[in-house]
Amino acid sequence: MSTEYSKDQIAALQEKAKRHLWLHFTRMSSYADNDVPVIVRGEGNYVYDQHGKRYLDGLAGLFVSQIGHGRSEVAEAGARQATELAFFPLWSYAHPQAIDLAERLAAKAPGDLNRVFFTSSGSEAVESAWKLAKQYFKAIGQPSRYKVLSRTIAYHGTSLGALAITGLPGIKEPFEPLPAGGVRVPNTNFYRAPDFVAHDETEFGVWAADEIERAILREGEDSVAAVFLEPVQNSGGCFPPPPGYFQRVREICDRYGVLLVSDEVICAFGRLGYYFGSERYGYQPDIITFAKGVTSGYAPLGGMMVADHLMEPFSTGHATFLHGVTFAGTPVSCAVAMANLDVFEKEDLLGNVRANEAAFRATLEKLYDLPIVGNVRGDGYFYGIEMVKDKETRETFDDDESERLLRGFLSAALFDAGLICRADDRGDPVIQLSPPLTCGQDQFNEMEQVLRSVLTEAWTRI
Ligand SMILES: Cc1ncc(COP(=O)(O)O)c(C=O)c1O
Repeated sequence: MSTEYSKDQIAALQEKAKRHLWLHFTRMSSYADNDVPVIVRGEGNYVYDQHGKRYLDGLAGLFVSQIGHGRSEVAEAGARQATELAFFPLWSYAHPQAIDLAERLAAKAPGDLNRVFFTSSGSEAVESAWKLAKQYFKAIGQPSRYKVLSRTIAYHGTSLGALAITGLPGIKEPFEPLPAGGVRVPNTNFYRAPDFVAHDETEFGVWAADEIERAILREGEDSVAAVFLEPVQNSGGCFPPPPGYFQRVREICDRYGVLLVSDEVICAFGRLGYYFGSERYGYQPDIITFAKGVTSGYAPLGGMMVADHLMEPFSTGHATFLHGVTFAGTPVSCAVAMANLDVFEKEDLLGNVRANEAAFRATLEKLYDLPIVGNVRGDGYFYGIEMVKDKETRETFDDDESERLLRGFLSAALFDAGLICRADDRGDPVIQLSPPLTCGQDQFNEMEQVLRSVLTEAWTRI
């Protein structure tokens, strides 16, 4: 299949994009004198722009394309379903695709997370979990519980409720005041651990978990509804949990009757080599939120998986969870998710991640010989590389250097070199990698080579 557009087509696309399209979280002014990057096709682990140039999709789009691009069997499942029944709401009605998918997800989820409430995105999933927690506690006679704890720099979505849970001050400030009740606790960035626990990761984990208990007590134990945590925190550059962290958090939640919500919008569906990140780290959430990889992006879908006890107040009498969205769990999205999961099973993608993750880590760790590479961290197929000005002292870049390095050079240079990944400075400056689960050593090498040459050049520009 040709991916090349003619000169006229390219010029027309650029003109229309610049005039009419508004890209998300994007400085539109930067395209006044530059082309908007336009991706026209994907195949396997690679995507192609309108000139026919190939890129390794080192971010799975945006932590989404687990099975890679161009899978006709998944596309056809969506097309077949659109012909039979494209849309019907999950308001009062059900359809076989949502029923089958709910059953399949419940069978995979840890413990008794047997009830699936679909949404169309991750933000909606997170916001639904907060709303459920609030209505649940009112229903069981604990109406003062409404606060939610989450970690510094963590991203949990952008709708106002989800944004109140998000821990990134920079993207919240323009929208203040946000819904009341969002409270921050420390994240699990061991590389930047406070001195008194920096010598031992387990001790650091105990401290970070106990900070959740201290926050509950500070806020008033009867006022806290839930703690929202990702298995591996994305924002800030992939912070895996220290050993024992989640087990201790679970105990704390049980002690104070607080719900543990595992936000797995990124970490579910194979990103960490398991269907759910909570399974990898051996903890039992009360709610799991998911989106992205459930369909690998072939259709939009999100949702939350809910423990049986949270459903109880809603399963008798007049009780109704007063929440819903039109495009939640459409027949097409659910059919696509089923086909996506078929690919997972047929090709043993979880097995592929587990078999190759050590090689992925080892390949990225080769970059430690570069002076700019301070820390390589992550698990599964999910890695962050933190860049520093001084390896010994771990000194980071000031705002001006960060601006010049990330926005002025790295993002464009990595893209020009044919690698889609993410250079992010919402915490300390990091490059993030989250490739399709179908990748292997060839792609790991490609990532390492591009990063080596671009980071070497970056160092000369500081
Ligand atoms: C952990 C987490 N939660 C929630 C969201 C929001 O998902 P969405 O962009 O689908 O609304 C994201 C998005 O990246 C995420 O990473």
